[in-house]
Amino acid sequence: MKGARVAVLGAGSIGVAFAVVFSAGGAAVRLWDPFPEARERAAGELRARYEALASEGLLDVSVDEALARVDIVADVVIAVSGAELVQECVPEQLEVKRALFASISTAVSDTTVLASSSSAILPSLIAEGLDRAEQVIVGHPGNPPYLIPVIEVVPASGTRAEIVASAEALYRGASLFPVRVQREAEGFIFNRLQGAVLREAYCLVRDGVANVADIDTVMSQGLGRRWAFIGPFETADLNTRGGIASHVSKMGQAYARMGAERGQDDPWTSELVEHVVAQRRELLPEHEWSDRVGWRDRQLMRFRRVFDRTEATPGE
Ligand SMILES: NC(=O)c1ccc[n+]([C@@H]2O[C@H](COP(=O)([O-])OP(=O)(O)OC[C@H]3O[C@@H](n4cnc5c(N)ncnc54)[C@H](O)[C@@H]3O)[C@@H](O)[C@H]2O)c1
Repeated sequence: MKGARVAVLGAGSIGVAFAVVFSAGGAAVRLWDPFPEARERAAGELRARYEALASEGLLDVSVDEALARVDIVADVVIAVSGAELVQECVPEQLEVKRALFASISTAVSDTTVLASSSSAILPSLIAEGLDRAEQVIVGHPGNPPYLIPVIEVVPASGTRAEIVASAEALYRGASLFPVRVQREAEGFIFNRLQGAVLREAYCLVRDGVANVADIDTVMSQGLGRRWAFIGPFETADLNTRGGIASHVSKMGQAYARMGAERGQDDPWTSELVEHVVAQRRELLPEHEWSDRVGWRDRQLMRFRRVFDRTEATPGE
């Protein structure tokens, strides 16, 4: 992203974090907020976040060099002029986001990516009726994006293909991992997965199966250790000799009963399972399965070395 010009609109927690990501990636960033107190707070927060990163050896340049790449501005038109990417980070209210995009439409070019950080609003709703509707996407980050690098790229129904490609290239240039959401769905992928786990966690507490602390322990000392580097499909694939097909034949019915208990009826049909198996075998051919299991175990060992040590010395 070296040399790219990026405007970040809204200097709250996500806006400041994006300014860190893009500036660390080498972009010239203009960070705008309509409120003077927010702009002032942002200047202090930027420095604090760069310093924290530098103290962990995670900033490639000096703190002052990183700070010099970010201009905090009071005029939104100045912020967006010449920008290849506008990353909107204002409050999660449809009308606020739409009004902001409408207000900058004559100040940006035909190729500017207009990205909203929205956590749940569909991009087609944001884009509807805007002059530059074809340039709107959602670019939904993890929080904070300089530590949780996945970014969901969600095109609206009318977004031009080259805008989506350009957004993904810019994000990659800032060391983010763009993931394309192929169909607009509330919550996208990140929050739907998170929501599935959270819904079950609430049910387990309600039903007296476990308390809050123990559920969090099952995640932090159990599932989360694997999920730190492989997802649920790869986990199932590697957990059972014979891969995901074998996992489904052994565990599928039990998972279906658990779902039915929660009123869910989304069967893993043979067609769906075949589709998933085919994608997994493309990612990991059968003859590489054992090596990958070994790789997973080495990752768990590295994870253990780092995290057990950190946990043993709280406050460090
Ligand atoms: N916080 C998260 O975990 C998270 C994660 C991913 C995405 N997001 C999304 O990012 C966006 C920003 O979230 P946040 O947590 O940074 O919010 P925030 O409240 O911390 O920041 C919002 C900023 O917008 C400014 N603002 C307020 N009213 C405005 C207006 N009318 N016009 C322009 N700017 C205005 C505020 O001064 C503030 O600096 C939201 O859409 C949110 O859903 C948040």
